[in-house]
Amino acid sequence: MKKIVVLPGDGIGPETMKQGLKVLRAISEKYSVEMEFEEYLMGGCAIDKYDNPYPPVTEKACLEADSVLLGAVGGPKWDNVEASKRAESGLLRLRKSLNAFANLRPAKLQPQLISSSSIKEEVLGESLDIMVVRELTGGAYFGEKGRRETENGMSAWDLMIYNTVEIKRVSRVAFEIAGLRNNKLTLVDKANVLESSRLWRETVTEMAKEYPDVMLNCMYVDNAAMQLIRNPSQFDVIVTENLFGDILSDEASMLTGSLGMLPSASLNENGKGIFEPIHGSAPDIAGKNIANPIATILSCGMMLQYSFKINEAANKIYDAVSNVLDKGYRCADIMMPSMIRVGTEEMGDLIAAEIYK
Ligand code: IPM
Ligand code: MN
Repeated sequence: MKKIVVLPGDGIGPETMKQGLKVLRAISEKYSVEMEFEEYLMGGCAIDKYDNPYPPVTEKACLEADSVLLGAVGGPKWDNVEASKRAESGLLRLRKSLNAFANLRPAKLQPQLISSSSIKEEVLGESLDIMVVRELTGGAYFGEKGRRETENGMSAWDLMIYNTVEIKRVSRVAFEIAGLRNNKLTLVDKANVLESSRLWRETVTEMAKEYPDVMLNCMYVDNAAMQLIRNPSQFDVIVTENLFGDILSDEASMLTGSLGMLPSASLNENGKGIFEPIHGSAPDIAGKNIANPIATILSCGMMLQYSFKINEAANKIYDAVSNVLDKGYRCADIMMPSMIRVGTEEMGDLIAAEIYK
């Protein structure tokens, strides 16, 4: 029995999560995987009830679970609460408490949606399929921070600090994923300027000897930002530190043109993790049955693939999504002329129905 903690969160989180669970229930019947779901509060809704975006009851449940599914958190209602109580800080604490250091963010273009990309088709090439592996529990996000009054006014700092253990464990995940794909790994850093990047480069270059089949390439982050829109198909797997990964994964996702389609996984040493769509809580469209649930549904697929290692069931979800797109069904965000527009619920039903086939 897999114990799954469900954190629907805020905005469109609850309605997209409902569709994810619908699809997982279909998987559970079809593949006789037993799953038990328990819901807890996280994000703005938890601030309202507990004055804490990641309250102890939620943390305890997450630590005891086999896996955590997260909808989306935050919204303008909570923008003015103090920094330590913001939904973002809850998210960082969730990642840290589960030690979810390896954040996998696939930017995969569904061929049916190529015209939604903001990049010309000839630049995108035949198929765009990049996996960004972002370090998630270190660097400037978690290094010492502070403020001090100086003779030039207030000064503030966020220490970007890494040790080799942190670099190696996430890089190992990236090397292994590269080995299962096209044996191509790009380390993105700023080793011409930053000491932490120099340590990344030394460590990862040394590790590459253990993976003779994987071709490692090192690239400065400014160049990587440019290359991603100049010639994206040169990339396969990218590994990088937390802040660079935050920025580059947003850029990579935009190549696909549809934020509503992209899932993510954040894993710890044992493959336990947090699975969530990369889009936000979109409060402006919440509760209207128009949000696209596909990113959440694909995140459920990533949970089956990376946490429970049931590839057959994960692939069933990926294929189901693709089949529904092939049949012309679209949510509002990816709607195109001559396609069939459906709402959140209908999209969930269509994908679940494909699972039973
Ligand atoms: C993300 C988000 C978060 C991050 C924020 C909300 C803390 O931008 O998941 O990429 O910076 O990691
Ligand atoms: Mn981000």
